Amino acid sequence: RTPTYKPFSVKSQAAPVLSQDELKKLAADKAVESVKSGMILGLGTGSTAAFVVDKLGQLLSTGQLSNIIGIPTSKRTQEQAASLNIPLSTLDSHPHIDLAIDGADEVDPNLDLVKGRGGALLREKMVEAASSSFIVVADDSKLVSGLGGSGLAMPVEVVQFCWKYNLVRLQGLFKELGCEANLRLDGSEKPYVTDNGNYIVDLYFQNPIKDGFGAGKEISALEGVVEHGLFLGMATSVIIAGKTGVEVMTK
Ligand code: 5RP
Repeated sequence: RTPTYKPFSVKSQAAPVLSQDELKKLAADKAVESVKSGMILGLGTGSTAAFVVDKLGQLLSTGQLSNIIGIPTSKRTQEQAASLNIPLSTLDSHPHIDLAIDGADEVDPNLDLVKGRGGALLREKMVEAASSSFIVVADDSKLVSGLGGSGLAMPVEVVQFCWKYNLVRLQGLFKELGCEANLRLDGSEKPYVTDNGNYIVDLYFQNPIKDGFGAGKEISALEGVVEHGLFLGMATSVIIAGKTGVEVMTK
């Protein structure tokens, strides 16, 4: 699968230096151009996805969009969307979603992703898997040549029961990649608890994962693992904002 890169809005002549937040907003605004009135929308989680939710709220309030129903992927996003008067529902009531827009932690050339550093991977994966289209929005710091290659965490959501047992088993799975596993902590050094009442084990790799599907299968096979942050074959397109403008990556 060779992805194509389609630049669409290009460098202005005196290319201004944009902050990371400005880049995230650029990507978010571009993605929202794909939203049509009447759509059921998966609403992602994280700082980039928050720009998407802001923009949707703005377009609804000015009447440029109407009859949108959002399916949030976290309590945080639910609160943000509710505060902007975006009508919300759940996968139970709307099992088929037209379009999901969400951020990512890593994007590889195949449009495979690592997600979940914001802790919302389980609901994100459920909502995005139920979506006909899934647009990823990110700044160019998220591009990697191989998943796990950023040196940052690849999260795995595990049940609280005997989390240490699973942490050791997860680390053991990827010994040859120089994997180190840590329990994620919150700001007060207590275990971080997800919206679903689970813990997160963060995996750090010295070398990128070669076989993402194989790795995902092995992780999922461990009893007590709820979900992992490898989002493989799910993204329809990725909108990347960087110094040279905004690019849409499609397969
Ligand atoms: C949350 C996620 C986020 O989409 C991911 O962490 C990217 O976040 P940000 O846009 O803040 O960089 O997967 O679980």
